Amino acid sequence: MSLQLSGVVAAYDAAPVLHGIDLEVGGDEIVCLLGGNAAGKSSTMRAIVGVLPLRAGEIRFGGRTISGRAPAEVIASGIAIVPEGRRIFPRLTVLENLDLGAYGRRDGRAAVAADLDEVLSLFPRLGERASQLGGTLSGGEQQMLAIGRAMMSRPSLLLMDEPSMGLAPVLVDQVFEIIRAIHARGTAVFLVEQNARMALEVSFRGYVLQQGRIVASGSREELLASNEVRKAYLGA
Ligand SMILES: Nc1ncnc2c1ncn2[C@@H]1O[C@H](COP(=O)(O)OP(=O)(O)OP(=O)(O)O)[C@@H](O)[C@H]1O
Ligand SMILES: [Mg+2]
Repeated sequence: MSLQLSGVVAAYDAAPVLHGIDLEVGGDEIVCLLGGNAAGKSSTMRAIVGVLPLRAGEIRFGGRTISGRAPAEVIASGIAIVPEGRRIFPRLTVLENLDLGAYGRRDGRAAVAADLDEVLSLFPRLGERASQLGGTLSGGEQQMLAIGRAMMSRPSLLLMDEPSMGLAPVLVDQVFEIIRAIHARGTAVFLVEQNARMALEVSFRGYVLQQGRIVASGSREELLASNEVRKAYLGA
């Protein structure tokens, strides 16, 4: 199912932080949103899941309007999010965190159990620590748990807000491999990253956000070749 934002204007207070965002994520794509600090990347994610209300514009998912709906309804429509800063439940165990990800699924225990097996095979570390409290995991392990929990809802679209932030290089590589694996299982991915090079490597297309406006967009190849993108985000 594809996601479309058209003319999205959103604000926390008087001044908008998103000034008319148009973008699309196809149902079979990995698309990234690049941009510096405070560009509005996380706000875009919050607008999609219904936490940040729209002042104007529309968000559609699978052809249906989702803007104006409550976050729980948006999530129920098949969107999951790995929020910025890995918000897992610190006082619940790893397994309980994963179970909560499947909350509200109506496709039966067997399907949920199969997905749990899949998540634990992608993240063997989580299996080894199944009964450990989430809050006592290392930062990298918590990030894996946040991703695994989002996968447990079997979303059509997964939003990921800086999944590689604060991880050691070996874990960063692993996160990007996992993004490919999630996509291969039939989930579209919309990825926010400051690690532009890695994000573009894994993405089909991308957008560049600056001060709440999309200032560039294109295929991976186009963005990698763009002088502006290279200067601002690829350190070249
Ligand atoms: N709850 C809030 N109330 C008021 N302003 C906010 C709130 N959250 C974010 N903002 C402001 O909105 C702007 C965009 O913030 P946002 O978090 O979307 O940026 P970002 O692109 O995700 O940045 P970063 O890369 O640092 O995570 C910033 O100027 C920020 O201060
Ligand atoms: Mg952010």
